[in-house]
Amino acid sequence: MPDVGFDKLAAEIAAIAPAHHVGRVVRIGRGTIEVTGLGRVAAQGDLVEIAANGQATRRGEVLNLARDEVTILPDGAFEGLQIGAAVTLVGTSQIAPDDSWIGRVIDPMGKPLDGWPIFRGLAARPLRGQPINPTQRRVLGPRLETGLAVFNTLLPLVRGQRIGLFAGSGVGKSTLLAKLARGVHADIVVIALIGERGREVREFIERVLGADGMRRAVVVAATSDQSPLLRRRCGWTAMAVAEHFRDQGKHVLLLADSVTRFAEAHREIALAAGEGGALRGFPPSTAHQITTLCERAGPGAGTAGDITAVFSVLVAGSDMEEPVADILRGVLDGHVVLDRKIAERGRFPAIDLLRSISRALPGAANEAENTLISAARHRLGTYDRSEMMIKAGLYAKGSDADLDAAIESWPKLDAFLAEDEWDNTAASFRRLAACLRVDGGDAVSGSEAT
Ligand SMILES: Nc1ncnc2c1ncn2[C@@H]1O[C@H](COP(=O)(O)OP(=O)(O)OP(=O)(O)O)[C@@H](O)[C@H]1O
Ligand SMILES: [Mg+2]
Repeated sequence: MPDVGFDKLAAEIAAIAPAHHVGRVVRIGRGTIEVTGLGRVAAQGDLVEIAANGQATRRGEVLNLARDEVTILPDGAFEGLQIGAAVTLVGTSQIAPDDSWIGRVIDPMGKPLDGWPIFRGLAARPLRGQPINPTQRRVLGPRLETGLAVFNTLLPLVRGQRIGLFAGSGVGKSTLLAKLARGVHADIVVIALIGERGREVREFIERVLGADGMRRAVVVAATSDQSPLLRRRCGWTAMAVAEHFRDQGKHVLLLADSVTRFAEAHREIALAAGEGGALRGFPPSTAHQITTLCERAGPGAGTAGDITAVFSVLVAGSDMEEPVADILRGVLDGHVVLDRKIAERGRFPAIDLLRSISRALPGAANEAENTLISAARHRLGTYDRSEMMIKAGLYAKGSDADLDAAIESWPKLDAFLAEDEWDNTAASFRRLAACLRVDGGDAVSGSEAT
């Protein structure tokens, strides 16, 4: 049997190319550089290494190609770049994930960020992998235990589902993602931290996710100060790592925080490449970039596992119509909206249930469970429509039985939405039924059950 350690060493050596094409910088412009000598060998999206005077070599990506010149977007600052500097063609963006990456924090190039050496895997896979053929893909799988009462019952998450988490800044997206990272039943959790503030990455890993969450997680991080190329690549790298484990038959939970930063990184790159901005400055190619990323998640085919994915989206105010949110809603199987007003009164996760849906329903629940779910929505909706009147003291108890039931259930349901005990789905449904019980009567009245 071959020695696994030797195999990895051999893979490292095999990755070293014996010969390279080298071009020269001929123009350093606004945001991009022009290089001669690579026009006939470079391909769109290829990686290059640029030698800088007295400084470490930096990477870049091929943006545009002409017969004699290629336009390159460097990864970092332009300081030290000179006319005539050597530009070495590295080739297509690839990554070779390895099982030993579990518990590790890496950058979008697959380099360790936690200070320990890392091994590349035996097989490289493209960063921009292809989604699975839709005709071969399985349908959505069974309901997952999530550790959160609301996702166990009212907003079920099923294997292979892709959902969006929409919220303004500071409303609790990252904290909720970390809870899902710890609670959802999956073999591996891959977390993409795209464009986060530097201090947040460490805080997320150590305080929010914790050693318990890290035990089955791979974190890929690119902070907000890094180049748009790295931030965009962060989404792709995380997806490639998730695909690596999915192809081994594992069930992977992918959490991306946030797709808005991924789209913004793409906007910077596309504008540098000369593409015009359209809606709110986002170039037309943004929709394609987001949808191809999301389509790579989902149920697998054949013997492969599944990628269940949660993508967080930053929405200014509650503007669900803004471009990134709008594009995402069209490709996902559900969306969860977090509301600032709910967060401000201290109820976390601040899920606005009436504006959130899981398209796994009604299939993901049995008949009795679906009855409970619609009853809970009905009570919350009834209360929501009359809340102003109730708070102003204009409603007299006894005038409307439906509203009376909603008023009685509301505090219990509100507390239920915040529950994150490590309970299973059956226990969560039992507690939901208890929240709906009014004056010792049945959980669901006749009008709600229909
Ligand atoms: N479950 C929770 N329990 C208590 N407080 C919470 C909870 N979730 C969020 N918070 C509060 O909300 C703050 C912001 O949370 P978080 O960082 O998760 O939001 P975010 O939406 O990811 O923010 P940003 O847009 O800045 O990334 C936290 O610092 C904390 O004070
Ligand atoms: Mg956050």
